Amino acid sequence: MLRNMEASLMARDRVGIQDFVLLDSYTSETAFLDNLRKRFHENLIYTYIGTLLVSVNPYKELDIFSKKQMDIYMGVNFFELPPHIYALADNAFRTMLSEFNNHFILISGESGAGKTEASKKILQFYAVSCPSTKLLNNIRDRLLLSNPVLEAFGNAKTLKNDNSSRFGKYMDIQFNYQGGAVGGHILSYLLEKSRVVHQNHGERNFHIFYQLVEGGEEELLRWLGLERNCQRYTYLMQGNCPKVSSINDKSEWKTVRNALSVIEFSEADIENLFAIIASVLHLGNINFEASAQGYALLNNSQEIHWVSKLLGVPAPVLQHGLTHKKIEAKMEEVHSPFSVEHAVYARDALAKAIYGRTFNWLVNKVNESLANKDSSRKTVIGLLDIYGFEVFSVNSFEQFCINYCNEKLQQLFIQLTLKSEQEEYETEGIEWEPVPFFNNKIICDLVEAKHKGIVSLLDEECLRPGEATDLTFLEKMEEEIGNHPHFVTHKLANQKTRKTLERGDFRLLHYAGEVTYCVVGFLDKNNDLLYRNGKEVMRQSTNAIIQHCFPATEPDSKRRPETVVTQFKVSLVGLTEILMSKEPWYVRCIKPNESKQPGRFDDVLVRHQVKYLGLMEHLRVRRAGFAYRRKYEFFLQRYKALCPETWPHWKGTAAEGVLCLIKHLGYTPDEYKMGRTKIFIRHPRTLFATEDAFQVCKHKLATRIQAKYKGHRVKGKYIKQREAATKIENCWRGLMARKEKEKRQWAVKVIKKFIKGFMTRHEPASVDNSEYLAYVRHNYLTRLKENLPKTVLEKDLWLTPPPIMQQASQLLKKLYTQHMVRKYLRGITPQHKTQMVLKVQASSIFKGKKENYPFSVCMPFLDTRIAEEDISLKVLQMIRPERIQYSVPVVKYDRNGFRPRLRQLIFTREAAYLVEEVKIKQRIEFNFLKGVSVSNLSDNFLILHVIYADKKQNDNKQKGDLVLQCDYLFEALTKLCVIANKQDCIKVVQGSVRFDIHPGREGFVDFKSGQEPMVYRAKNGHLMVESRTKSRI
Ligand SMILES: Nc1ncnc2c1ncn2[C@@H]1O[C@H](COP(=O)(O)OP(=O)(O)O)[C@@H](O)[C@H]1O
Ligand SMILES: [Mg+2]
Repeated sequence: MLRNMEASLMARDRVGIQDFVLLDSYTSETAFLDNLRKRFHENLIYTYIGTLLVSVNPYKELDIFSKKQMDIYMGVNFFELPPHIYALADNAFRTMLSEFNNHFILISGESGAGKTEASKKILQFYAVSCPSTKLLNNIRDRLLLSNPVLEAFGNAKTLKNDNSSRFGKYMDIQFNYQGGAVGGHILSYLLEKSRVVHQNHGERNFHIFYQLVEGGEEELLRWLGLERNCQRYTYLMQGNCPKVSSINDKSEWKTVRNALSVIEFSEADIENLFAIIASVLHLGNINFEASAQGYALLNNSQEIHWVSKLLGVPAPVLQHGLTHKKIEAKMEEVHSPFSVEHAVYARDALAKAIYGRTFNWLVNKVNESLANKDSSRKTVIGLLDIYGFEVFSVNSFEQFCINYCNEKLQQLFIQLTLKSEQEEYETEGIEWEPVPFFNNKIICDLVEAKHKGIVSLLDEECLRPGEATDLTFLEKMEEEIGNHPHFVTHKLANQKTRKTLERGDFRLLHYAGEVTYCVVGFLDKNNDLLYRNGKEVMRQSTNAIIQHCFPATEPDSKRRPETVVTQFKVSLVGLTEILMSKEPWYVRCIKPNESKQPGRFDDVLVRHQVKYLGLMEHLRVRRAGFAYRRKYEFFLQRYKALCPETWPHWKGTAAEGVLCLIKHLGYTPDEYKMGRTKIFIRHPRTLFATEDAFQVCKHKLATRIQAKYKGHRVKGKYIKQREAATKIENCWRGLMARKEKEKRQWAVKVIKKFIKGFMTRHEPASVDNSEYLAYVRHNYLTRLKENLPKTVLEKDLWLTPPPIMQQASQLLKKLYTQHMVRKYLRGITPQHKTQMVLKVQASSIFKGKKENYPFSVCMPFLDTRIAEEDISLKVLQMIRPERIQYSVPVVKYDRNGFRPRLRQLIFTREAAYLVEEVKIKQRIEFNFLKGVSVSNLSDNFLILHVIYADKKQNDNKQKGDLVLQCDYLFEALTKLCVIANKQDCIKVVQGSVRFDIHPGREGFVDFKSGQEPMVYRAKNGHLMVESRTKSRI
């Protein structure tokens, strides 16, 4: 899209030549004009002469000022796109940013050539293209809106231009180093205030008056005492042209009203401001009548009252002030009445003064709102848009000042482009063919030379005592400068010229053409006399702006202020100084016709402008000269990065460095020249190519620097972190070490104490051993807790106590044993208890007496060894009444042959029965049981000794003692003791047991230990029972 647009732009641009430097016949004015005309008819209003922009007023809206166009021109080199004012603005801006210096754009051309429009376009371009923030947008809006306000108050329709600037304006736009527009400042130059009271035919007063009357809200007008009718106001009707088709006062009013708010005018300021504008209109309508004595009398008090109300000055004071003059005579003040003529003059003077000072107030106010408050360094681009050279049929003091101003600017232009340029070539020793040009210094001198210049002569006439008039001023000029080639008057002129001059005229041959000035009013306007009375009246005003404009401290007329023209001259010198310190850019505006018509190209008119604007000379100098020059140091400094030999440092002289650099860049010999201190480059494109290369390289460098910087920063951060880490580590280590130390100290103390405690453990309790002993106690108790005997049986596995715990240990042991016993007992069943009782019994009988007893201890006793069903029913029937208590199988040895026989031994409550199957072989009533013998060895033999029935009973059935072997010997015998209630009936014997085979016959059982258990009948007839020796069991 952009490309298409560019392409079409390019196509159009093929019409003619876009840079006059490329014109073949560059010395031909006709060729120059042809090119300009050709392009003009294609709506190509811009053409370059190098970097100077020639602009022809199209007098119609062109579609080349859109946002899109601005975007296209942003950051693009001059020659790459068709000429445009945006290109110039952009280049100035970018140069400012890269070189960090100040610039100004001088826009010149005669009235109506398009200067003001051009300056607005530039401002708009910056407003759109500059980097912006919310804050900057604010400043940007104010910069933009300062224009409609200042134009409303300072511009007017003239015959040359419907929006002619009637003041000079120099505006600084301040940029920060990033290129953001951060502020602005406006200098205004000599407002043509005579316009307030008088306009030539076909001209208007300042726009604001018409805007107020046409656009002001009903209420406002009512408050101001105004009618919505311009015709009602004398000051608006001098040129008899209140309405202009190209101007819409109503909508302009809205714009201005809105702009005032944006620029931070308070409501009070705005009210006061319009009160002043309205009171000027009212003042204009005040008329005077002559009294009988010829003094001025006020005839319509209505207007006076409005002025009085709006300015806050008492009406009588105002009235008196307008009709009387204050004269100081010796020590007293005399008020003398005005003539009508004087009164009108005084009224107009007051109106002009009020308006003029209010305008200055306005400019100051705008400046306040544009002021940038931060003090960081800024660069500026100045925009100079000043009233253009103008020639009317009647030219007065104002035109003289305006044209003088243009003369000065032309002088500056010549200085900067033609003269100094050529001088520079000479001083730099560049071969050069001088280009002749018209230097307007001679005219500037004619106007401003000390003592002999027109300005001096005018001032002299104004200030000298005696009757000075405009005509005496003219005579003076004729006297002093009559023979100057650029000055002529009616009297001095030759016949032919005289016809074109009136008697009161003088003519100056300005650089831009002849202008005939009418001297009438020169002295007055230069004096700008506001009668003292008028000032005093204004000092009483309650209107804040008027109070500000007429301060009480102002020196009154006793010491005359500087004349208008001198003030103007001084301000122009100031302006020249401001401009000289900055880098210039030029826009030369050309007016294609006098009738403000689009598409009309008046050859004569344009040729004239081309001539006086010095464009041909400029072209010639450009063409022969060099578009760009820079001190070697600067050039090398900026571009040294482009050549490996010069980067980063060049050892030799700067000139050598530059030579090396441009050789490396491939400059051809005709593209440059080496001066004494500077390099001269012929074509902009050569420089642009270099600059482009630099921009590319700069980015690479920037990336490298950035990388380095980032690296540096990261490293810095890393080092910082490392330091921090070390610090923390140190602190931590310190902390840990301190803790460790404390711990050790504590440990040493504890160990010391422990040792001391240990050594004094047997001594009575003291500070030294108390802790140790506590520890010992504690330790013992905890160990004890973990090593308590599990059962009563282990009660002797008691932990040996330390000496101090001996007593406690015993107590504890006792308690614990009791506890265990209790616990044990609680856990014992009745059966178990019986068993235990029996076992105890067994123990009391056999323990330590019989060898195999210990092995029986672990074998529980049973209730019986023969179940009832294994006993024959018959036997059961017989013995049941006695209740069977216990039965056990036994081996019975015959008393005679000692033959073993299996029998059942059954205990009832009454007796012991030996049973053989169904037969009761023997019944031994417990009463008749004498005892039981067992051996001390490990056999299982028992002998039941029986008491024989006494002789009286003589029971034959009585059998002898029983020799039995029973595997459950201990169980059976213990039961027997219990059942028979015979505790001591069991005898443990050694060696041999005597028994009764039957009463009166005895037998023996011998016991001994042997290898193997054996039972046999020994040779001696005894029963020999051998049991295993104790060690072999
Ligand atoms: N670039 C332009 N495009 C359209 N019209 C223009 C342009 N420049 C000037 N004009 C017309 O010419 C008139 C006078 O221009 P202006 O800038 O006020 O002249 P100057 O300031 O030089 O006296 C403007 O009011 C406008 O109508
Ligand atoms: Mg202008």
